[in-house]
Amino acid sequence: MATIPKSEQTVPARTDVWRMFDRIAHRYDLLNRLLSMRQDVAWRKRLANLLPERDDLRVLDLATGTGDVLLTLRAASPRVRSGVGMDMSGKMLYIGKDKFEDSGQASALQMVRGDAMRIAAAKESFDVVTISFGIRNVLDVDAALGEMHRVLKPGGRVLILEFSLPKIALMRSAYLLYFRNVLPRIGGLISGDSYAYRYLNQTVETFPYGEAFATLMRNANFANVSMTQLTFGIATIYQGDKI
Ligand SMILES: C[S@@+](CC[C@H](N)C(=O)[O-])C[C@H]1O[C@@H](n2cnc3c(N)ncnc32)[C@H](O)[C@@H]1O
Repeated sequence: MATIPKSEQTVPARTDVWRMFDRIAHRYDLLNRLLSMRQDVAWRKRLANLLPERDDLRVLDLATGTGDVLLTLRAASPRVRSGVGMDMSGKMLYIGKDKFEDSGQASALQMVRGDAMRIAAAKESFDVVTISFGIRNVLDVDAALGEMHRVLKPGGRVLILEFSLPKIALMRSAYLLYFRNVLPRIGGLISGDSYAYRYLNQTVETFPYGEAFATLMRNANFANVSMTQLTFGIATIYQGDKI
């Protein structure tokens, strides 16, 4: 009888999602580029276009993974003075630290192990808080949004990049076909962890997006909440200000 790989036998508790990223960290960047056909790179650049019009920005990037958001922001804008990447997965952080050193950014960018639901930082200590493909993984979304609001300075901005679903029916069907059938197979094959890439499509299909997510942001006291749809609505950037 065929043996079921261990990663497929048990669904990790939602509190332990970051452990799954420890397991796939060595293939994370490669799979991001491959499975999104490099759209992830373009999406992070769009995030950089939405930085507030202030100088000397201090940025906190939650669920930073291997640090791509901070590297993109620093490359896009000299106004980003420094950044802290925070994540629960030590292995993702380790790879990110190497990337900061290799790109000569280690003096401006640092990595810290920490939880988006309990941010170990003083209130009003950052100009910008970002989280890209991370909020969907956090157990208590309201708590994380509340924490983002707490650590932002007045006048500061939150930028949240997350998967969503296309509105146009044909696009949506084609995307779901790829997302449900092709992506988990390629992801599983290359990362050796098929659960992780089934988890991806299952969580994207059940996570609130569009107006539903914007409402959660308003409930967390963010003002001027707006949305930018990317690539037919496959991803969305949510923006909100602390006033
Ligand atoms: C899909 S990756 C996103 C990485 C990166 N932001 C990017 O754009 O590629 C999600 C990350 O969320 C992290 N994560 C999950 N739960 C977390 C939490 N409660 N606090 C901080 N990070 C968390 C995981 O460890 C993982 O690195």
